[in-house]
Amino acid sequence: MAVLPPKKSWLSAPLRTLGKRLGKPVGSEPGGHGQQITDYFRKKARQQGYTLSHSQQRVIQSMAQQAGQLDQASARSLYLHGAVGRGKSWLLDGFFRAVPISQKRRLHFHDFFAQLHQGMFRHRGQDDALGMTLDELLQDCRLLCFDEFHVHDIGDAMLIKRLFTALFERRIFLLITSNYPPEGLLPNPLYHERFLPVIKLINAHMQVMEVGGAHDYRSQPESGIGQLFTQGHYVWPGCTAQRQALQLPPLDSPPFALAVGTRELQARLCHERTIRFDFSDICEQPTAVMDYLELSRRFDTWIIDRLPNLEDCTVAAQQRFINLIDVLYDQDKRLLLIGQRPLRDSLGGTAADLARTRSRLGQLVEVGPAALGAV
Ligand SMILES: Nc1ncnc2c1ncn2[C@@H]1O[C@H](COP(=O)(O)OP(=O)(O)OP(=O)(O)O)[C@@H](O)[C@H]1O
Ligand SMILES: [Mg+2]
Repeated sequence: MAVLPPKKSWLSAPLRTLGKRLGKPVGSEPGGHGQQITDYFRKKARQQGYTLSHSQQRVIQSMAQQAGQLDQASARSLYLHGAVGRGKSWLLDGFFRAVPISQKRRLHFHDFFAQLHQGMFRHRGQDDALGMTLDELLQDCRLLCFDEFHVHDIGDAMLIKRLFTALFERRIFLLITSNYPPEGLLPNPLYHERFLPVIKLINAHMQVMEVGGAHDYRSQPESGIGQLFTQGHYVWPGCTAQRQALQLPPLDSPPFALAVGTRELQARLCHERTIRFDFSDICEQPTAVMDYLELSRRFDTWIIDRLPNLEDCTVAAQQRFINLIDVLYDQDKRLLLIGQRPLRDSLGGTAADLARTRSRLGQLVEVGPAALGAV
């Protein structure tokens, strides 16, 4: 049994990366976009065999309403929150695709935020560095979608406040998903109070809706069909015999330097569009979401080796691993994760977003030592 996929088994690009729908300019068809949104979701749910939860239906209704007045001051941005696997990103992706305008962007918040920092640094000394940076980054954008918004660093709070204020002033329609209700953002009690102005701003400008429901859809067998990520594997204990039997790379591959941005990371294998890192080389070094995004543009199959029990790692390493899995899931990469113990015993820890990581990694096919005998 070879865990690494033969190339021919790679699926075509997932739905989320399919081409944009371009349509008539907003305003040419007053109110008509609402119907398009509802029709789009109805068709999509039917194709995928999904029964929409009550809250998904409510959100679609609101989306349709807002899309109908996207051009008017009365359009109210949307903030969707809820527990993992309730179908928030599915709603965001659907809305993004169905809104028939071309001036729209779906961005990873961390990536956007890092670019914002860089732009403001470039324009430092100018009166309105933020405005100039936003002009560059957004151009004529009118719909901006941020999936997975979460904040853990108080250093970001001031800029987030200025950013949101500027986006609302520009009448950009924002669609945000998060595992946190606005009141739960930046949960650290030491800093939470200083984040209250952002929470106030969100509540004042956005319609906040919970995407609830009793179940994580990812635990349903049919969920994830058509996603490369869910065809990935979690292999343990990763001993020499198992590596040989499964044709996995050996434990002792020497590290080599791989240039990422302006820095170098230690990788263990780099072959065509496959990359392998030891957990410690990517998560216990000062890496950031920008690095994972750059790497995910270069590599489609990822091997993360020697996953320890996360509980034994620093919170910073846990947070990097969470961010890395978020990027790989979002970009729909094929993952081979190799650990020492069963997955459920490897993902302990205190970081707040680990529930999302558990839900995502729970979709990997788990291969334990019992499989050795069957090879
Ligand atoms: N009504 C539904 N019925 C069955 N599956 C669904 C339904 N809605 C969404 N899904 C599927 O469930 C999986 C999880 O959905 P999604 O990624 O949108 O969850 P999420 O709320 O964004 O989770 P997270 O908080 O972890 O980001 C996806 O594969 C999605 O296609
Ligand atoms: Mg999501």
